[in-house]
Order: sequence, then structure tokens, then C-alpha cells
Amino acid sequence: MEKVRLSPGVSTFPKPAAVISVGTGEEANLITLASVAKVCPKPPIVAISIQPRCHSYQLIEKLGEFVINYPTIDQLRETDYCGTRSGRDVNKWEELNLTKEQGSIVQVPMVKEFPWNMECKVIKRMKLGSHVCFFGEVVATHSDPQFVKYDTLDPDKLNCFAYIAGNYIGLKKGALEEHGFSEIY
Ligand SMILES: Cc1cc2nc3c(=O)[nH]c(=O)nc-3n(C[C@H](O)[C@H](O)[C@H](O)COP(=O)(O)O)c2cc1C
Repeated sequence: MEKVRLSPGVSTFPKPAAVISVGTGEEANLITLASVAKVCPKPPIVAISIQPRCHSYQLIEKLGEFVINYPTIDQLRETDYCGTRSGRDVNKWEELNLTKEQGSIVQVPMVKEFPWNMECKVIKRMKLGSHVCFFGEVVATHSDPQFVKYDTLDPDKLNCFAYIAGNYIGLKKGALEEHGFSEIY
């Protein structure tokens, strides 16, 4: 197979599109990020990357906390909205009729309408060029019970989507196989 050479800047894929809450009270804001990944299981650490010019950047720096809110496919518009407007100009909570829900550990509010929320505390930050990467320890996770199976996320029930090359892609076909299925054959 003859392959073509692409720019090293081409994205990894698929990525999530998650809406991150930052700040508290009247200052609380929402930002959509595709640079969201779990990078260590024990302790549970996630990494998110933000451009310093975003309004949300200062709010993460100020509090050292954030919440990752995962939307379903029915919340695609809210997800795109939070990634195309700035909290400097609009109140995204009010514009989208989203409700602030107090988490159990961090002060930053969770998005009540989004079914899966992870409360995080910043443990490290790293300037990487255009973006600053924040490593956050996940201190609590909450889920709508209808999406949980065996104490974790049921991928067949959560109607989530991925972000690939600038497109929101549905994952309707559901789980193909379980982790480790290749060992059986
Ligand atoms: C699907 C999607 C993914 C995005 N991913 C990132 C990202 O990983 N890092 C980032 O800095 N901005 C990302 N953005 C852009 C920010 O969400 C956007 O600049 C936002 O308006 C900033 O809001 P704020 O100024 O209220 O913080 C993304 C936008 C969209 C729509």
C-alpha cells in the first residue's frame, strides 16, 4: 500500500468533545475541549489542554479545579455553542438554559443536564507551546444511573459521539467487542 505523508500537526483520532466547567458563582463558565484524555488510572489523572487566550484559562488558573461534563448526542448544539463563543461575551449557562449543580468535592459547578461528570483538581500544569496542559486528579465521578453497568459506563446505553477532523461523529453501532476478546480465540 502506498501511503501519503501528512503534516505532523494532524490530530489523533477519535477525540471526545467534552464541555468543561471552570470558575464559580457568577464567574462560572463553560468551554468545549477535544483535548481531554485519561492519562493515568491509579491515581486517576486526566489531561486537558487550553489556549491561554480563552476566558476559561484564567478561571482554571485561579481555582485549580475543573469539571469534565460529557454530553449525549442530544446535547450536540450545547457542545458546539460552548466551543464557539467566549464567556467574555456571553453567559453560556443562561443562553443554553443549563443548570449549575454542586459537586461533592470541588467548588466548580457540574452541568446538571449532562449525564456524566468528573470533578478534577489540578495537580500539575505544563506550557506546551500554543496550549497549556493541565493534569487533573479525578476526585469524584457522577453518572445518570441509566448509563451505568457494573459500576462503570455502559457504552451501549450512553449515546455519545466523537470528534474527528472537525466533525462530530455518532457512535450508534455501539460496542463491537469487549476489551480482551482476542484472548478467547
Ligand atoms: C469541538 C471543539 C473542540 C475544541 N477543543 C479545544 C481544545 O482542546 N483546546 C482549546 O483551547 N480550545 C478548544 N476549542 C475552542 C474553545 O472551546 C473556544 O475557543 C471557546 O470559545 C473558548 O471559550 P471561553 O473564551 O469562554 O473560554 C474547541 C472547540 C470546539 C467546538
